[in-house]
Amino acid sequence: MSKTALVTGAKGGIGSSITQGLVEAGYRVIATYFPNGEAKAKEWFKENNYSEEQVRLFPLDVTDTAYCKEALTTLLQEEGKIDVLVNNAGITRDTTFKRMTKEQWDEVITTNLNSLYNVTHPLFASMCDHGNARIINISSVNGLKGQFGQTNYSAAKAGMIGFTKALAAEGARFGVTVNAIAPGYTGTPMVEAIKPEVLDSIKAEIPMKRLAAPAEVAAAVAFLASDAAAYITGETLSVNGGLYMH
Ligand code: CAA
Repeated sequence: MSKTALVTGAKGGIGSSITQGLVEAGYRVIATYFPNGEAKAKEWFKENNYSEEQVRLFPLDVTDTAYCKEALTTLLQEEGKIDVLVNNAGITRDTTFKRMTKEQWDEVITTNLNSLYNVTHPLFASMCDHGNARIINISSVNGLKGQFGQTNYSAAKAGMIGFTKALAAEGARFGVTVNAIAPGYTGTPMVEAIKPEVLDSIKAEIPMKRLAAPAEVAAAVAFLASDAAAYITGETLSVNGGLYMH
């Protein structure tokens, strides 16, 4: 029987490649999308020629605790178990701290960090019961090094790393590994939204002088999800072209 993975923000820049990588590795993927994005999600599904067996589209508002609890409890009953959870959904609201509104702060903390509680909590006990499961949290280089204009995002992404280590300690005895991936600047709409002159100066700082391809991040996810990574837990794997070495 094939294993099942749940990927949040599955049709996004990195999420789409993660989904594709896991499908290629033989997983059935539960691909979550923001509930009002059904039409676009269906389009994405079609464009990628997925079958219903390979990918199940699943509406999920990762910011809504009660919604996640109800939807994911039902999902578990329907699917039996989730072997791999990839907490990937995330947003930016970049601005200098002086100008940052409480709303911009809250939006990023809620979507990028509180979502870890909302999505992981309804699934974690079942993952422990079944054992041999994986949780992979998509953090960021900017959670490790801090970034001008991203106090909200850097705080959330650093918080994801703390969560990863703490939950890794709790999951270890059950064979549930919990790891983070810290991508660098990756060729996605999120990065393309940065002003060209700012992006050029960021690229100049990257030792490899290029952005990551989304597939390069997806390959790290597929590795951490695999049986070969069973003894790796609480780790943060950087995929950043040398931008930050720690
Ligand atoms: N370090 C120090 N100073 C900096 C700086 C930096 N990294 N970046 C900008 N500054 C300075 C500028 O030189 C400028 O100085 P002067 O006023 O003396 O000229 C001042 O700060 C204002 O800079 P901007 O003109 O850029 O200000 P702005 O208000 O127009 O824009 C901003 C602010 C939106 C934060 C913009 O700087 C920006 O987009 N920065 C990039 C933020 C970033 O890296 N976002 C990543 C998004 S992708 C992502 O998050 C994915 C991932 O995980 C990697």
